[in-house]
Amino acid sequence: MTQINSIANRPIGVFDSGLGGLTVLKSLEKQLPNESFLYFGDTAHVPYGTKSKETVIRYSRDITRFLISKEVKLIVIACNTASSIALKYLQDNSKIPIIGVVEPVVRESVSNTKSAVVGVIGTRATINSNSYRLMFNSIEPEISIIEKACPLFVPIIEEGWAETETATQVAEIYLKSMLKSNLDTLVLGCTHYPILIPTLKKIIPAHVNLISSGDPVSKTVSEYLKEHNLHSKSDTRYEEFFVTDYPQQFNEIGSRFLGRKLSPVTQVDIS
Ligand code: DGL
Repeated sequence: MTQINSIANRPIGVFDSGLGGLTVLKSLEKQLPNESFLYFGDTAHVPYGTKSKETVIRYSRDITRFLISKEVKLIVIACNTASSIALKYLQDNSKIPIIGVVEPVVRESVSNTKSAVVGVIGTRATINSNSYRLMFNSIEPEISIIEKACPLFVPIIEEGWAETETATQVAEIYLKSMLKSNLDTLVLGCTHYPILIPTLKKIIPAHVNLISSGDPVSKTVSEYLKEHNLHSKSDTRYEEFFVTDYPQQFNEIGSRFLGRKLSPVTQVDIS
């Protein structure tokens, strides 16, 4: 019993290539207010969406090893690119549970759509991996999927330009053709994209539901913790942030997004 308690009181590891995973952290904090979190943003290597499969697997493996060395009880891949490409590798090679975002998001979208037409936007690596198409096909093959890679969104967000005219123009170009279909659900298949929601809402009709990764994956994590009696029983919770470059910039843009200071943010070299 003491052994279970001590594992349960360990933090949850959360990682992304940069700031995007904070959108997932926000949902995790809301749904799991008693848990502690270690957040890792691989800011030296962002964006992942333009990298090869081998490189994304290598970065994800190194981060997973780092988080495991910090004794996390579970890891959430708060990145669609790494979830699409590296989830199976990480699950096959780790002793702790690893949860990705794609399956929870697809299940949420399937229960949400009435028109059975779902749009998916993401990085080039996510769209090219076919992870969403394959997951939709295995869960609900009747749904039509329209996909679009939006490679400029991540640099725009990491630059702090999410609410600029430039962001709106780029979004219009990417989404124009998709918005001519009768989709009623749009998967924001990159954890950075919720930061663009105010801009996206200017051009996407109100009846289209935007599905982010945060809430669906937090629900999956919560169910997992419950099923395995791994909810923290400790009275004190804490958070720590690790980045591989530019801690100051991460802190500034990240705090704007989370609405509070992110401290401590520690720069680490894990290569
Ligand atoms: N936020 C990530 C994702 O969900 C990574 C984006 C990137 O680094 O290209 O795909």
